[in-house]
Amino acid sequence: MPPAETPDILLIRQTRPDVAGRLAERFRLHRMEEAPDREAFLDAVGPRIRALAVGAMCPIDAALFDRLPRLEIVASFGVGYDTIDAVEAQRRGIVVTHTPDVLSDEVADLALGLLLATLRRIPQADRYLRAGHWRAGSFPLTTSLRERRVGILGLGRIGRAIARRLEGFGVTIAYYGRTPRADVPYAYHDSLLGLAQAVDTLIVAAPGGPGTQGIVDAGVLAALGPDGIVVNIARGSVIDEPALIAALQAGTILGAGLDVFANEPQVPQALIDLDQTVLLPHVGSGSHHTRAAMGRMLTDNLFSWFDGKGPVTPVPETPWTGQR
Ligand code: 8YV
Repeated sequence: MPPAETPDILLIRQTRPDVAGRLAERFRLHRMEEAPDREAFLDAVGPRIRALAVGAMCPIDAALFDRLPRLEIVASFGVGYDTIDAVEAQRRGIVVTHTPDVLSDEVADLALGLLLATLRRIPQADRYLRAGHWRAGSFPLTTSLRERRVGILGLGRIGRAIARRLEGFGVTIAYYGRTPRADVPYAYHDSLLGLAQAVDTLIVAAPGGPGTQGIVDAGVLAALGPDGIVVNIARGSVIDEPALIAALQAGTILGAGLDVFANEPQVPQALIDLDQTVLLPHVGSGSHHTRAAMGRMLTDNLFSWFDGKGPVTPVPETPWTGQR
């Protein structure tokens, strides 16, 4: 039984046993999902909660902050935090932390896998063999990564990890983001449309949120051209999903490899029905190795905070100033 001064922590959609186990050494744990009546639960424990440990893509907003008057820190499991109102957190003096870097290589690996799977139709070829069609004839020839011009939307940590891998594939690499980066050799475009006009392959690695909502729209997709390939390992919200479906159905672009969707875990039937899509259930960081590292980073942030040493990886909106 933890002593009375043990900080109370609320877990929301945070189900990893290693995370809960380590947190239990130091905190009194409360689990939102175990509460039969969420309102009554928040009435009862909300005033004591000093920290949140949350799963990725968990909505955390002012209405919840109102119920947690002693909240000091939100530790989120994932690099993307578009569902957390970090500006509101900052206004209330609440720190938000995420798990950057530890997942970049894993997600970049998956992006390259998804790109190749989409271009070379790897899942379709696998299904072809399993269905016994090979005995009747060879699998049809596919499009290729050879001579492709690849554009990366968002050259942050994950975008750069993708670009580094692409260098080994001998393709042209260009990018669009809010600001050009001085430390990379890739061509910068100052608009997404300009990037799309210059490339035939677009890899989406930009964060979600209002600033990027639907920016891969019908015009951007058309600019990629009929050989166009879109790969998204970032957030479904960045692509105008109905426009993508229309572009695929009309042959405006050739194919799409998607790990993320606008309304997960719902995936539009139209995307499933298309033969030129490769669809994954948001597994970019989903290896034992990387999820364990993310869990350690989440708990490190909370331990460091309650040791009085500040957060380890705060989001830019809630920088650590050394003051509580
Ligand atoms: C999630 C992600 O963390 O880091 C992110 O932003 O989207 C993923 O790595 C993962 O889906 C765990 O829920």
